[in-house]
Amino acid sequence: MHEPIITVLGGDGIGPEIMAATRQIIQAAQQVTQVNYHFVPMAFGGCSIDQFGEPLTDALLAQVKRSDAVLLAAVGGPKWDHYDVRPEAGLLGLRAAMQVYANLRPTKITAAAVKRSPLKAEIAQNTNFMIVRELTSGIYFGKPRHYAATQAVDTMAYARNEISRIITYAFQLAQQRDRHVTVVDKANVLATSKLWRDVAEEIHPQYPEITLDFEYVDAAAMKIVKSPQQFDVIVTSNLFGDILSDEAAAITGSIGTIPSESISENGPNLYEPIHGSAPDIAGQNIADPIGMINSAVLMLQHTFNDQATANVIERAMVAVLQQDQPVDLGGQLSTTAFTQRICTQIQQNSVKVAPDYV
Ligand code: NAD
Ligand code: IPM
Ligand code: MN
Repeated sequence: MHEPIITVLGGDGIGPEIMAATRQIIQAAQQVTQVNYHFVPMAFGGCSIDQFGEPLTDALLAQVKRSDAVLLAAVGGPKWDHYDVRPEAGLLGLRAAMQVYANLRPTKITAAAVKRSPLKAEIAQNTNFMIVRELTSGIYFGKPRHYAATQAVDTMAYARNEISRIITYAFQLAQQRDRHVTVVDKANVLATSKLWRDVAEEIHPQYPEITLDFEYVDAAAMKIVKSPQQFDVIVTSNLFGDILSDEAAAITGSIGTIPSESISENGPNLYEPIHGSAPDIAGQNIADPIGMINSAVLMLQHTFNDQATANVIERAMVAVLQQDQPVDLGGQLSTTAFTQRICTQIQQNSVKVAPDYV
């Protein structure tokens, strides 16, 4: 096999800070496991607009095609908010070009997260659900779409096959989890949601061991904070998944720790934290890199089947977190200090297990 190629998109705001942290950590870990990943950094988003006049260049798309995986931090910021073509449009273009139709956003509350959660411990504890967000269709992409002084239009459209592939993905994921799928929609109002329900009911008999239920998105938003333990797999449209995943992140104590994985049927997957470029804290060396690091761990596990390197990183991070935390989690550690601690921990662990010492 060729050396695995990872296209690396630091992007804007805190993006370059958390990406640098993550690359350092992967590099430390791969020295232990003797795997060689080849990183190809490219400009994307606002920094690409500054350099090349557009957020998503053809050169980047060509590079993505040559990659085994794409690792992305975040794009956007006030500097580009009034541009005709914003960094965020580049992100949507990238997701569409990569055809990453299923975006997985986990909410898993650890013992430490129970303490940080704004919810009461008895409500937060044992929460473990996955939001399966449809990522390449819906209101983000529907036509017509226009923006004018007198009227603006967005269109929410879903084709049956776009719904069936994401629902099927959710059923299959639930088979490996608690066998419970909740479709979150607005079927009391929206035509697209009615079709989501029809398709889910139609596919369900192929997965008889799975419990299927439906929630309206407004009620689901309420239940995510009132009784989050009731969910296992939530499958939902692009916009609802975007909104509910930030809400779900908050119950773990911070959006800064949540990774995501976006699945393509026939090309590289895309791995990115769910948060944005956090312009309010950019350049201060206080960004939490955990969501980015966790995204890289998912990439190692799921694209490269490299559990060894993933384990080295996860174990070192857990060990460091037992001593102190990043500023975002209420601790003292800057982004670079946290990163350095993890790298040191990785090197020390590797010394302990090196055969010469056994
Ligand atoms: P945001 O997620 O960037 O920030 C929301 C809040 O969470 C801010 O207070 C921020 O400081 C904090 N936060 C987020 N990530 C953090 C981290 N890793 N460590 C510590 N604190 C963190 O959302 P926003 O402020 O609504 O958006 C800012 C910009 O990011 C916008 O331009 C938006 O379009 C863009 N955005 C990009 C992506 C992406 O590239 N995937 C995702 C969301 C938002
Ligand atoms: C996310 C972001 C993006 C989205 C924006 C920046 C286009 O909020 O990845 O959650 O809405 O998908
Ligand atoms: Mn979002």
